[in-house]
Amino acid sequence: MLLSVENITVHYSRLPALREVSVSVDEGEIVCIVGPNGAGKSTTLLSISGVLNPTSGDITFDGKRINGMSPEAVARAGISQVPEGRHVFTTLNVEENLRIGTSMRDDRGEIEKDFKRVLEIFPVLAERRRQAAGKLSGGEQQMLVIARALLTSPRIMTIDEPSLGLAPNLVDRVYETLLDLRNDRGMTLLIVEQSSERALKAADRMYVLRSGQMQLEGNAADLQDGEKVRQAYFGFEEGVAHEGEVAF
Ligand SMILES: Nc1ncnc2c1ncn2[C@@H]1O[C@H](COP(=O)(O)OP(=O)(O)OP(=O)(O)O)[C@@H](O)[C@H]1O
Ligand SMILES: [Mg+2]
Repeated sequence: MLLSVENITVHYSRLPALREVSVSVDEGEIVCIVGPNGAGKSTTLLSISGVLNPTSGDITFDGKRINGMSPEAVARAGISQVPEGRHVFTTLNVEENLRIGTSMRDDRGEIEKDFKRVLEIFPVLAERRRQAAGKLSGGEQQMLVIARALLTSPRIMTIDEPSLGLAPNLVDRVYETLLDLRNDRGMTLLIVEQSSERALKAADRMYVLRSGQMQLEGNAADLQDGEKVRQAYFGFEEGVAHEGEVAF
């Protein structure tokens, strides 16, 4: 496995936000973690990227233990994180935002090649190269943060809710781009999603997290009827809906 999270427990205060959670991602895989609000999905990604430090358990990347490392060191090791919420520098233009992705690198020649490649993958960013990032649509901003993460030349990208707040057609486009990144370039992706339908479509393997604990893990192909995922996601048996619970 390229990335292994083994039995991590993470506390914000006294209450654990994650209890003995394990996730693994193999080279070239698309793995999705799904779960309702407050499940611990973002906490899992923040632990991988060194922003949070687990109180127990281990995280290994390419055979090396990375828990306790700073976010900068984790990024340098090859894990690029796209956090929740599409953080672009609104007053900088698209190109300046993208250049931030290359700021940690010193392989000058490769940077320019990668820059060209990224503009080919994301033609909408090429068209708007000189435009302030704040003027981009939500979908375009999502493309920009993914492109910026790609420019760090990572071995794996973790992406927190790429579809949040986007219209369905834009969500489709974002996911098409992610699939292309894997299929054409062998990029490894760990994606957090609220929509298990979306995860079932996009992922090779998926995990269902709820209340800080892993409920289910499996190949997306084996879970296509959705029933096991539904039960793990909501924590109730087939056909028993709880009042106030959102439709699946
Ligand atoms: N900074 C924080 N301080 C204290 N508790 C936190 C903090 N961030 C998250 N939590 C708590 O930890 C738990 C997991 O939160 P997390 O953000 O990982 O969930 P999530 O699955 O990403 O949810 P969402 O789908 O809403 O983004 C929740 O109970 C949340 O209230
Ligand atoms: Mg979250």
